[in-house]
Amino acid sequence: MILLSIETSCDETAISIVEIVGDFPNATYKVLGNALFSQIEIHREFGGVFPAIAKREHIATILPMLEKALHESNLPHEAAPYLPETATQIKSILDREFGLADQLLHFHEHYGIPTIDAIAVTSGPGLEPALWVGVNFAKAIAHLWNVPVVPVDHMEGHVLASIFDGHHLAEVHFPSIALLVSGGHTEIILMPDWGKYQKIGQTRDDAVGEAFDKVARLLGLPYPGGPEISKMAAHAREVNLPEYLALPRPMMHSGDLDFSFSGLKTAVRYGIEGKTLTEDEKFALARDFENAAIEVLIHKSIKAIEQHSARSFILGGGVSANSYLRNAAQGLATPQSFPDLQVFLPEKSLSTDNSVMIALAGHAHLVDAETPTNFMNTVRVDGNQSL
Ligand code: KG4
Ligand code: ZN
Repeated sequence: MILLSIETSCDETAISIVEIVGDFPNATYKVLGNALFSQIEIHREFGGVFPAIAKREHIATILPMLEKALHESNLPHEAAPYLPETATQIKSILDREFGLADQLLHFHEHYGIPTIDAIAVTSGPGLEPALWVGVNFAKAIAHLWNVPVVPVDHMEGHVLASIFDGHHLAEVHFPSIALLVSGGHTEIILMPDWGKYQKIGQTRDDAVGEAFDKVARLLGLPYPGGPEISKMAAHAREVNLPEYLALPRPMMHSGDLDFSFSGLKTAVRYGIEGKTLTEDEKFALARDFENAAIEVLIHKSIKAIEQHSARSFILGGGVSANSYLRNAAQGLATPQSFPDLQVFLPEKSLSTDNSVMIALAGHAHLVDAETPTNFMNTVRVDGNQSL
């Protein structure tokens, strides 16, 4: 079967077309088309993601992404009959995506209907105005092509991306512990089996990616700050700069699996307030912060692995692109700690938001697929809930 997947939960507009042979989780996946536009440059100007701007950019980019993914995949497509009532319905579905209905109808008229069997779309969690663009667009093309839609949890996408090698999902030994770290989330998930998720720990305030971004801003670095901090921290380690600031390890010994990162960011703020840091001090501080944040993440992951006798550990979400965290995660499986633990890290291109991961999660839930008409009433778009 051929699945088209859509991701618009934050600042990436992404569409993939994936050919799938076999049943989840033992299928073979072939990515036929993969189009992604990152809005980072646009948001950088404002120092963060503004939902209204993200929505505007998704509206402007989503059809070009569809065209690019279809072009790459080279799928057969056949002419579509023109029905005036279809145009009315599409205009009503895309009522809030100014101008998009007309562009889509124009595209549909000359391109026709591709051989796509179903559509998967991120329905949450994420920025609500951004999510709606993807969801409404999914509904519209599902209607034009008469195929079902599968709503997908973005965080489940991150979990599956981490165990995907480009063609197959790994043979995971359960129970598994997943540490999901992104700009909006920091959570520990217990996976007793495929498709079963139980949240056993989460941040009580800021997500760790958000803390990276905020500390970066304090240091005058551009958005998104995570990769910048990580580069500076690597340099500080390489030349062995002395500690600049003794930072706390918030909630490290709280006895549960929750996190708190806003205090860490505040400690950085107080530590540098009124001072002008030298370049070396900035490098050292980036490292001090990264050490503190990652020490807590790994400490709680170890606790979770121990408490649930986990046989595997999955690291996922945008912050999993961080090399220091990747090394620390890999270091969990040593003869001294957890010798038989499987450790899964996403390929770097699948660490941050993408639509391939949405295809994987969509495939997992294909049985729950809705016909386009039902889907219109049942879609869940929420900004807060996740797995
Ligand atoms: O998963 P993601 O792409 O989007 C959300 O769902 O939030 O994650 C984005 C987050 C940002 O906060 C970004 O700063 C962080 O991931 N990030 C990193 C690195 N690369 C991306 N944080 C630390 N080190 C990195 N190398
Ligand atoms: Zn994400």
